[in-house]
This record gives sequence, structure tokens and C-alpha cells, in this order.
Amino acid sequence: MLANKTIVLGITGSIAAYKAADIASKLTRAGASVEVVMTDSATRFVAPLTLRSITGRPVVTDMFELASEFSIEHIALAEVADVVVIAPATANIIAKLSTGIADDMLACTVLATKAPIILAPAMNVNMFENPITQENLSKLKARGFTIVDPACGRLASGKIGLGRLAEVDEIIATINQVLGRSGDIAGKRIVVTAGGTQEPIDPVRHIGNRSSGKMGYAVAEAARDRGAVVLLITAPTSLPQPAGIEVVRVRTAAGMKEAVAEAVAQADVLIMAAAVADYQPQSVAEAKIKKDSPSLTLELIRTPDILAEVKGNFIRVGFAAESEDIVANAKQKLEKKQLDIIVANDITDADSGFGADTNKVILISRDGKVETLPLLSKREVADKILDRVVGLLAKKA
Ligand code: CTP
Repeated sequence: MLANKTIVLGITGSIAAYKAADIASKLTRAGASVEVVMTDSATRFVAPLTLRSITGRPVVTDMFELASEFSIEHIALAEVADVVVIAPATANIIAKLSTGIADDMLACTVLATKAPIILAPAMNVNMFENPITQENLSKLKARGFTIVDPACGRLASGKIGLGRLAEVDEIIATINQVLGRSGDIAGKRIVVTAGGTQEPIDPVRHIGNRSSGKMGYAVAEAARDRGAVVLLITAPTSLPQPAGIEVVRVRTAAGMKEAVAEAVAQADVLIMAAAVADYQPQSVAEAKIKKDSPSLTLELIRTPDILAEVKGNFIRVGFAAESEDIVANAKQKLEKKQLDIIVANDITDADSGFGADTNKVILISRDGKVETLPLLSKREVADKILDRVVGLLAKKA
């Protein structure tokens, strides 16, 4: 979503202003054109030259300074922006924006733009919790501003509380999400499952598998960035919670089935990237099993087959983790589970599958189309899958 977009990055006078350099760098590397506007107090915290060097663009600091092409016409930036992001946003800029004061270049740009606006507040906890700031934020939210809530943590004052600038990755994810509102799956409801289920044996042990959850999370994030309303149903993973995505946490295959069955009632698409255990212990020991006999036999029973059992009028995408006869086995699963698309991968390949950041897959559609993709990042694989989903959604419409 970021490539070739013009992002106006407003920086105001907070100790967190240095983090704006990281935001500018990540956006620039993703192919966006980043136009930085700094308030006078922001320039006391970071040098405009830093931002200029990172973005390769002139930095606007003063409405009446003619160094930038944008200073000449004070609303020019407002017109070229695809999105305006203020990070960090102080209590002062929030108050100004909520009342329409336009006494500097940044406030002018926000007042004049028709582009979506994102604010990432950062300030002292008392200032943030002050009802005046909260009222101002509510007013701006009601007007369609997107607020990336600050995090709780150690503040510059030494106090612990709400007011730290949100993580840079969360701010970037929000920018993607806001830009994605006009994406090719805008408004569609997509349910994605991820991670490996855990089937308990006793209170401390379970049967699990090596799924990292990375593929499912990549699909969820890609769908979010293309405008979908995403629900991620995840088995335990060590991945951070993705921004802008509703997450339901489950543990077992049975728990996942229940969550999926409830979610798909309103879904357009179900993408089952989770590695669901096929068997679970017949009974779960109430107390920890002691090693008091030389061998132990666990009686296992089948778990529900979620994809096969959950019915409804939605597009169904499954994964097939195979180690031999990949296409033939995957085609069989596609038939058996009545899928629209199956994503097959060879789990014996070191660059693919469990834990890797890359994946090499074969996409197979119900109409028989088989496409072998090269080794790609999981995010790129996710977008390839979604390209096919977009085609199916269009056909259905
Ligand atoms: N799946 C599911 N419920 C299960 C097992 C798997 O919904 N109990 C889904 C997976 O999320 C995946 C697809 O079915 O999208 C295929 O999973 P896979 O484990 O490769 O295939 P299985 O059907 O379990 O067959 P097998 O283990 O025999 O290869």
C-alpha cells in the first residue's frame, strides 16, 4: 500500500520526536514519498537535517520560509497527501486541531486536507488523562481521525503510565490500514486462522506442532492492508498482536472450530492457515502424569476437521503441508474439503514451511489451475493468495 503514496509526516515537540526518524525511514524504504512538516518545538528535539537526509525531501518547518516548494503555497501539501500522520502528536497540536486553529504549517495542512489523518499521541500521563485532552481526542475521532493509542510504560518524567508513543510498527501498520480502505478487498470480511493447536495431555503437557503462525499472520496483515475487515483466530504463537486486526485466541482444535463456526456466519472468505492437530488425547489427566511406569500409552481420538465441517456460503481456502506427491495430495484435499483454493507446500524444503520467513507454494484452484510460485516472503505469498481470492470474489459478485 505504501509504494508511490505521498505521506505527510507531521512531527511535534515531544521527547518521542526522535522516533519519527525511524517512521520516516521505514516509510521511505517501503517506497512512499515522505513529506515532513515539523513544528518549531519539534525542531528542538530532532534536527530537520536528519529528516531531510532520511527522506531525501526538503523538510517544512516554517510557513514563511521559501526553502520548500510547499512553503510557497501553504495548502499544497494538504492537496498532495494520500494520508497525513502526526507522530508524535502532543496535547498542544491535538487541542489546536480539535478547535480548528491553523497557526503553523502543520495545523494548516491538517485543516486544509481531504486526506485521512492519523494521530499518534505522546505526552505525560497526566496531560494524556486530562479530561480536556480526552475530550479533544474524542472530538477528533468523531470527525474521522484515526488515533493510534499511546502505550503504557516509562515516560520521560520517570513516571510509569499511559503516554508513550505507540510502537513504530503499529503506526506503520495503521498507515497501511488507512490507505487500504480503498484496496481491492475493501469491506470484505475475511476470517484467517493461524498457529498450531495444542491438545492437552495433563495440566502441564500438550501435543503440539512446529507451526510458527507466520504464514497465517502474514495473510491477515495483507488482507488488512488491502482493506478487508479481518478476524484472526490464532492458536498460541510467539508473534506480536497485529495492529488493526481483531484477534480471537484459542488453544485446541475444538476451540478453534467453535470460534471459526461463529465467525464464518458473516464472512466472505475463510483462510485456514492454522496447523490443526489431527488427534487429541481421549481424556485429559486432571493431575500431572507422574513417570512411575516404564512406558506410557496415550489413547488419541480424531479432532474435528474444521474446514470439512464448517458450512456456509463463503470462499474457502485451505493449506496442504505435504512431503510427497504434493500436487496430487493437495488436489485430493481440495476435493475432499470442498475448497476453492488450496495452497500446497513441500515441508521438506528448508526455505519453506515451519518457522521460515519464506515459503515456496503451489496454488491450486477448483477449476484446476495450478501455479507454482518461486520462493517468496510469506507476505508475498499472502498477497498472491489474496489476488486469487479477489478474482473469486469478483466472479461471485
Ligand atoms: N484442517 C482443518 N481441521 C483439521 C485439520 C486440518 O481445518 N482438523 C485444515 C488445515 O488448516 C489446512 C487443511 O485443513 O488448511 C489441510 O490440512 P493438513 O493437515 O495438511 O491436511 P489433513 O486434512 O489434516 O490431512 P493429512 O494430515 O492426512 O495430510
